[in-house]
Amino acid sequence: MKIKDLDFEKFIGEEEIKQKIAFIAETIENHYAGKTPVFLPILNGSFMFGADLLKHISIPCRVSFVKISSYVGTVSSGQIKTLIGLDESLFNQDILIVEDIIDTGLTLQKIVEELKSLGTKSVEVISLLRKKSARDKGIAVKYLGFEIESEFVVGYGLDYDGLGRNLREIYKTDSENLAGKNGQV
Ligand code: IMP
Ligand code: MG
Repeated sequence: MKIKDLDFEKFIGEEEIKQKIAFIAETIENHYAGKTPVFLPILNGSFMFGADLLKHISIPCRVSFVKISSYVGTVSSGQIKTLIGLDESLFNQDILIVEDIIDTGLTLQKIVEELKSLGTKSVEVISLLRKKSARDKGIAVKYLGFEIESEFVVGYGLDYDGLGRNLREIYKTDSENLAGKNGQV
């Protein structure tokens, strides 16, 4: 399958994704029994994963889709990333961040810091995928779907230059010569 200039091959099938999601959901339900966690799926990448995961969650919970915005701060430190779309107080809440993929882990680090500064009770991370780069750096993901190497992937919410998010399966391309071709958030 070709998207723009790149060739992709099938990597993780629909059924495999479904089974993994059911397993993650069951684990979370056990860990959060008696609590009312707040799920924060990060747009755009997590729209499909977040929706499918939440269909399997039957304990009481809140859901708020959020986005990361980059803006240039008043100080000269360059780009600052912040969460937008938070429509309720997270004070004293058990937070579950829902991410599509963790690569360098930089995005995630910022989000976790910001959420902790809001006086939350706990902050944990659910991610469908984690790349080798994050694994090597020891980026902690409590609930993880799949460990992958450094291949670039699209589908099931993940994009290449804005394309491919609608695909029901995950596709990969060889990571060679792909420097700088990260998807959008
Ligand atoms: P990080 O800050 O390097 O961990 O970047 C994570 C974000 O980059 C993810 O939420 C994705 O939006 C994007 N990203 C990283 N790797 C890929 C990929 O292989 N395909 C599509 N998007 C990716
Ligand atoms: Mg993302």
